[in-house]
Amino acid sequence: MRSLLWALAMGAATTAAADGFARLEGHGGPVMGLDVGHEGQVASASFDNAIGLWRDGAPEWFDGHRAAVNAVAFVPGGLASGGDDTDLRLWRAGEATRHPGHTAKIMDIAVAPDGATLATASWDRRIGLWPLDGGAPRFLEGHAVGVNAVAFSPDGRLLWSAGGDGTLREWDVATGAQTRMIKSHGFGLNEMVADPAGVWLAYGAIDGGTRVVDAATGAERADLTAGRRPILAMATDPAGRHLAVGDGEGYIMVVDTADWSIAHDFRATRAGPVWALAFSPDGGTLYAGGLESAIHAWPLHALDTAPPMDDADQSFLRPPGEMENGERQFARKCSICHTLTPGSARRAGPTLHGVFGRPAGRVPDYNYSPTLAGSDIVWDEDSIDALFDLGPDHFIPGSKMPMQRIVAPQDRADLIAYLRRTTRPQE
Ligand code: HEC
Repeated sequence: MRSLLWALAMGAATTAAADGFARLEGHGGPVMGLDVGHEGQVASASFDNAIGLWRDGAPEWFDGHRAAVNAVAFVPGGLASGGDDTDLRLWRAGEATRHPGHTAKIMDIAVAPDGATLATASWDRRIGLWPLDGGAPRFLEGHAVGVNAVAFSPDGRLLWSAGGDGTLREWDVATGAQTRMIKSHGFGLNEMVADPAGVWLAYGAIDGGTRVVDAATGAERADLTAGRRPILAMATDPAGRHLAVGDGEGYIMVVDTADWSIAHDFRATRAGPVWALAFSPDGGTLYAGGLESAIHAWPLHALDTAPPMDDADQSFLRPPGEMENGERQFARKCSICHTLTPGSARRAGPTLHGVFGRPAGRVPDYNYSPTLAGSDIVWDEDSIDALFDLGPDHFIPGSKMPMQRIVAPQDRADLIAYLRRTTRPQE
């Protein structure tokens, strides 16, 4: 299975030479974060709880997060990642380390120019500053709600942050003190990137606001608002020539930073958001991630002719009217994390193939929480009904299955009947 995916990914990378477009396939869920290393290797953070490191189109997987991963960044000697399980993780020289400290999800990671410090943005309203040599972290407080984005100034002395409280702030890295309130936008800021030369800051907001301000004065340099919302992804290339903006309506806009003119603006997905963007080191290729599990790569000049990122056959994109209730329940509430066929396909949860009559925690290709692996539950109509009547957090406390209840008994009955039909092993 794995080698097939590798072959597909390699195949896709080969076609890239011909038409300049590539898909990196292998994740089992939406792609939430991307970073590109100095040699052009790509790191991806996914809703499937994993990090992918892609070289020449082939992935290496880093498993350990217990929930969706939102951010990944290259650090000297490896990778840093963070997400819904609140722990910062470092993956260096074959060693994985877990760094607790935040008390809510991590949304963004920035690495200081000297590679010695890492900054995290968290929904616990704090910014974490982590010395990469292993010293204790410091936490900067000031944002009124969650922090969504962080960036260092080119000299590493300043840190810029953007938050759900609509503010753009500046901090002194040495003292940890807030030095300036650069801007207050009025709507929550989801994204912010800094010019690699430190001259401007670009931010994107829930209301679609997309603006560029002078980093030193806060004066507005450009208003790039396109009327689509919310803004969910932003990236700039290492030379700061282009700024890419992705939104909840599935568009990607690329702006030339010399005069803030729009170089490209196109619909990248048929349905659903663009969650992650990153440029190659030479700025010539744009990588994007969204609801579909593949990462897409385009040379900038081919952007406008790019085929849409999403596959129209995906069950969660099919019109709900075409499905009976049980299938619709599964498509909406389960399919993003579970397959029904043999093999878990790197989704966030184990395959449900053959689940009826099976003791909990037994799918061999899946890494269960100790709670589920050590449980004596046997899955049948009654236990699956109870799982969603009470919610996983009450039925199996300590499981990494997310909180979710299906309140209407008929919805649970239809879902279970659908699962009965579709998970039966072939004799
Ligand atoms: C956001 C991801 C996510 C969604 C959505 C989700 N699950 Fe799960 N599910 C998981 C994870 C993760 C586990 C493994 C939990 C563990 O190891 O503690 C799991 C485990 C299970 C198990 C136990 C399987 C076993 O082998 O022991 C069943 C049954 C299950 N899920 C059914 C469902 C159904 C039915 C739905 C839809 C109503 C659903 N799940 C929605 C993530 C999800």
